Amino acid sequence: MPATVVVGTQWGDEGKGKLTDLLAAEMDMVVRYQGGHNAGHRIVVDGEAFALQLVPSGVLYPHLTPVIGNGVVVDPAVLLKEIDTLASKGVDTSRLVVSGNAHLIMPYHQELDRVIERFLGKNALGTTKRGIGPAYADKATRIGLRVQDLLDPAIFREKLDVVLREKNSVLSKVYNRLPLKMNDILDLYLGELAPRIAPMIGDTVTIVHDALSRGERILLEGAQATFLDLDHGTYPFVTSSNPVAGGACVGAGLGPRDLSRIVGIAKAYITRVGAGPFPTELDGELAELLVDRGHEYGTNTGRRRRVGWFDAVMLRQAARLNSLTDIAITKLDVLDTLPSIKVCVAYEANGVRYDYPPYHQSTLHEVTPVYEELPGWQTDISSCTSFDQLPKNAQDYIHFLATTTGVAISVVGVGPGREQFVTPS
Ligand code: GDP
Ligand code: IMO
Ligand code: MG
Repeated sequence: MPATVVVGTQWGDEGKGKLTDLLAAEMDMVVRYQGGHNAGHRIVVDGEAFALQLVPSGVLYPHLTPVIGNGVVVDPAVLLKEIDTLASKGVDTSRLVVSGNAHLIMPYHQELDRVIERFLGKNALGTTKRGIGPAYADKATRIGLRVQDLLDPAIFREKLDVVLREKNSVLSKVYNRLPLKMNDILDLYLGELAPRIAPMIGDTVTIVHDALSRGERILLEGAQATFLDLDHGTYPFVTSSNPVAGGACVGAGLGPRDLSRIVGIAKAYITRVGAGPFPTELDGELAELLVDRGHEYGTNTGRRRRVGWFDAVMLRQAARLNSLTDIAITKLDVLDTLPSIKVCVAYEANGVRYDYPPYHQSTLHEVTPVYEELPGWQTDISSCTSFDQLPKNAQDYIHFLATTTGVAISVVGVGPGREQFVTPS
């Protein structure tokens, strides 16, 4: 049976964790395909919250196999801490498999992420400082260490010896930092972490394909989002991997024909953490209200998220970049108190109207959103259990989003809880 992808269509934090958890009930395997612990995926079950960074969001179901694919960058210390936290909450993670081909985040990656951001000064990207960019850079320059290297101490030492000399030279000579000690890294990675990670390491490409040939259902869980994509996002204010659906193939080891459903996920408004262009950004009281009602603070970093109106121009672009089959809209309930709601249906710049984002970044910085204003519903929708129970204006808002983006809406979130969603007919 072909696979389903969950992909963020905005700038992240759309609710991928919640949607993955929701769809996972019907799945046999959930695979994370890119990113690392820059992700924060929050799931709420019976009032209890789980904040996942590396472990796939399907882990809460005992019947399912969670897989960390080759496209992910793994900090093994963070992974073990997450596993311990889940265990303390009674979640069994013994079925978790980590690709031997996934790259390791090393201490110098985190150090470099911090100093490079400082070096960029006012041009800083606002990264999560988790070492994501430097780890993917090493993968591309072919000096990265992989998860499978933890199984071969001799190879691990040999690779680390070469790469650490280069990293220490950059850290000390360019950034004026103290060099890192080889023995400290060896003690941590080979001494402490490898023995616990080793039993989880596997050939995830074979595992995923065996599952497909048995007719099992596979869900591919994206992290970050389309407009944080290294190729298609608002470069350079992006992450260093490919969250788009094509990245799901690469990062899990599937071919394009293995994908059947590609669910784009979008908030009923939009948020962004970190620097970069944001055409529909709001400030003042309205922004405060959305941040407050939507609890718009990073799941892991705690940073305040920037907020704005729903941007259909971006969604149309996301629809074609990902071949979306349908969209899940989350956090509709956050708009409950507003008397009216705006949706950006096009951009304008220098007398030109854009239905899709202008390709030149300088133009994107200059665009003015063209808004349509819809009436609000000013009713608490958080306990609605069917689409028909939503107030007419809320239903109309959802229908409007489907029409202006050109993609069917299959799920609407009305609260953070696992059961808080309705399905448009
Ligand atoms: P992710 O990174 O895409 O998984 O999203 P995050 O978990 O970082 O952020 C989404 C936040 O919205 C989390 O706190 C979720 O619990 C919450 N959430 C998800 N869906 C809904 C919804 O429909 N309504 C409300 N009010 N909160 C939601
Ligand atoms: P989830 O999976 C929101 C943002 C950072 C920064 C840029 C680059 O929870 O949606 P990085 O550390 O990746 O080099 O930072 O990307 N960013 C996210 N924003 N949600 C995320 O993940 C993010 N992961 C990275 O804020 O602007
Ligand atoms: Mg998040």
